[in-house]
Amino acid sequence: MRMRDGWEAEAGMWAAFARMSGCDRSHEDINLPALRALLPAPGRRTLDLGCGEGRLSRYLRSIGHRVAGADAAPTMVRLAAGYRDAPPAVLADAAALPFRDGTFDLVVAYMCLHDMDQMPRAVAEAARVLEPGGRLCAAIPHPVNSAGDVPAPARSKAVTTGGPGASRTAAPRSRRPARPPRSARCTGRSAAVAARC
Ligand SMILES: C[S@@+](CC[C@H](N)C(=O)[O-])C[C@H]1O[C@@H](n2cnc3c(N)ncnc32)[C@H](O)[C@@H]1O
Repeated sequence: MRMRDGWEAEAGMWAAFARMSGCDRSHEDINLPALRALLPAPGRRTLDLGCGEGRLSRYLRSIGHRVAGADAAPTMVRLAAGYRDAPPAVLADAAALPFRDGTFDLVVAYMCLHDMDQMPRAVAEAARVLEPGGRLCAAIPHPVNSAGDVPAPARSKAVTTGGPGASRTAAPRSRRPARPPRSARCTGRSAAVAARC
C-alpha cells in the first residue's frame, strides 16, 4: 500500500485528532514551537507541503503568510480547503508538484516527509518550486523515535510515544545521542531544520 493511500484511509481520524485542542500534545507543545523558531518572516508565497487537514496552513495564514497547501490524499485536501476561511489546497503528489519553478519563497514540510513514498524526489521538487535563495523548513520525528537500529535486548525496554498518526517507539534514554546536530533544533519528539536553496 502506498503511504498516501494509508493517509487517505485515515484522513477522518487524523482530522478529528488534529483539530481537537489538547489532543496532539507533540504538535502543540513541541513540534510547532520548534518550527516557529525557524520560520522566516512572511514573504511572497508559502507552500504547506503535505498539508493534511490544513492546521499548519491556517496557522501560517494567521501570522501573515500567503499560503497554498498541497497533499496527496483527496479527503485531506477537501478537509483543508473546506475549513472556514481556509487557504487554498490542491491535490498533488509532493514528488510531482503542479507548480512552476520558483513559485514560492518558502516551502514548509511539517511532519510529513517521513510519510512520503518518494521522499528524495519530494525534497527535489521542493527545491524546484523555490525561488533562488528560497527556504525549506522541515520538521520530522526525531530519530530517537525509531527503534530500528536498537539491538533486540534494548528494544524490549523501549518506550512507546506519540499519537495515532504513527506508532513511534523511542529508544531507551541511554542510547539517545548526547547532543543534537548543530543544524537542527531537536526536541524529544521532533527535529526541525531550515535549509536555503
Ligand atoms: C502526519 S500528516 C501531517 C499533516 C500536516 N502537515 C499536519 O501536521 O497537520 C502527513 C501528511 O502527508 C501527506 N502525504 C503523504 N504522502 C504524500 C505525498 N506523496 N505527497 C503529498 N502529501 C503526502 C499525507 O496525506 C498526510 O496528510
